[in-house]
Amino acid sequence: MADYFKNVLLIGAAGDLGQHILTALLETTTTHPTQPLTISLLTRSNSTAKFPTHPSIAHIHKGDIKDQYFLAKAFKNQDIIISAISPYALLDQKLMISVAAKIGVKRFILGEFGMDTRDEALTDSVRVFQQNREVLDYAAEVCNSSSMQYSGVICGAFLEMTLLDAEMGFDFETRTVEIYDSGEKKIEVSKMKDVARATVEICFQPGKWRGELVYVSSFTVSQRDILVALDKVDEKGPWKVVERTTEWLKNKGDKRVGEGDMMGLVDEIWAMTFRDGVGEAFSKTRRLVNEELGIFRRGEEEFVEVIKGIVGEWEVGRKK
Ligand SMILES: NC(=O)c1ccc[n+]([C@@H]2O[C@H](COP(=O)([O-])OP(=O)(O)OC[C@H]3O[C@@H](n4cnc5c(N)ncnc54)[C@H](OP(=O)(O)O)[C@@H]3O)[C@@H](O)[C@H]2O)c1
Repeated sequence: MADYFKNVLLIGAAGDLGQHILTALLETTTTHPTQPLTISLLTRSNSTAKFPTHPSIAHIHKGDIKDQYFLAKAFKNQDIIISAISPYALLDQKLMISVAAKIGVKRFILGEFGMDTRDEALTDSVRVFQQNREVLDYAAEVCNSSSMQYSGVICGAFLEMTLLDAEMGFDFETRTVEIYDSGEKKIEVSKMKDVARATVEICFQPGKWRGELVYVSSFTVSQRDILVALDKVDEKGPWKVVERTTEWLKNKGDKRVGEGDMMGLVDEIWAMTFRDGVGEAFSKTRRLVNEELGIFRRGEEEFVEVIKGIVGEWEVGRKK
């Protein structure tokens, strides 16, 4: 039997991305039938998360994620930890990484799952990305002096979630899009199912992706490409367009954060992501490893189909 990471612990299994990762982990009974996983989950003491009952889920560790003794007990005998922790708790990963390395975990998949953390033009001025960067640098340092290795999955924006949550400028409620700067800047977007599948595949490739960020992307599109697709499939269109600048969005985000509304951090992310001339779609600058991680790069026709599915989801009520 091929070598693989058998004992897997998932953090954030009921979260937006974590749910997809848990599903992908459970589906390995079909995708990798000869390589059964033993899955454990880690959840906070005060969490109200509900998890499915499944024969592959061996343990649910509930406790204080800031307590190194709780973490050490949960991490013992794990081969790989997948962190799908909330973006509001990214820095809590530092203690997790240090405990995992000490207790002999072999691989730690960081809570990256977004824009290219190594693109300094992007990370330098966006607070969430700065935290990703801090954790990445910390993981590199810890892994340098231990036998653990880290990996991170960079996938661009979660396409379904960001659109349905009225992010990236698109608001289904009013069928209005704010186009930032030219609206032509290409960015990477991924289906969450693809991201989850690629992440889980790392469990079956223990010799690869050590100390690496891996780049996957379902589509490379601009705001205007999304708008064209929406206008093709949304019977409630055409969408109303409001032209804005990324500077305007950045100021709006700063004001919200200043007033204690942390969603302003999200405005900050999109202001930098859509800013003309800052960074480039990483499919142009990095090696995409979709196929190696068992997922496909998807074409234009499929993009329209995915957008159609998102419109359908909105209509049946997956509203924010
Ligand atoms: N690319 C994108 O467009 C995009 C968008 C959003 C997020 N992300 C990234 O994807 C990863 C997962 O994000 P997500 O949105 O799926 O996370 P989420 O749903 O907000 O949270 C995931 C889980 O984190 C746990 N958690 C631990 N500390 C927490 C805290 N202080 N507050 C809230 N939850 C806490 C909770 O699990 P328990 O209740 O079980 O403890 C929660 O269910 C992150 O790395 C994030 O940066 C990317």
